[in-house]
Amino acid sequence: MWFSWLKKTPVYQMHLNGNNIPVRQGQSLLQAALAHKIQIQSGCKVGNCGLCKCRLLAGTVHPLPDADNAALDATEQHSGLILACQNTAQSNLWLEVAETKRQKRNRDEQLA
Ligand code: FES
Repeated sequence: MWFSWLKKTPVYQMHLNGNNIPVRQGQSLLQAALAHKIQIQSGCKVGNCGLCKCRLLAGTVHPLPDADNAALDATEQHSGLILACQNTAQSNLWLEVAETKRQKRNRDEQLA
């Protein structure tokens, strides 16, 4: 079973909020981050809750069917948001954890 070795080999690097994280073939971005003790807020891990939203700054992820992106509206998808629990790397990636609505509201209140 030589191909099981292949699945464990890091293929790409994910640069997330200043951390470099190896990502294996088929491993979700959330799994890769958590395996290296990098916290990304998460809940359902199946694409429904939207807690794991990240902004893709550079690189490509494997395309997903719309049903797997159910937690993202069209505007979010077009603005580069992806779900870390659903996406897998197709190249080296540069990501930042997206601000939650609560974090954005708190920041807006502090600036007002
Ligand atoms: S953890 Fe719920 S959508 Fe990713």
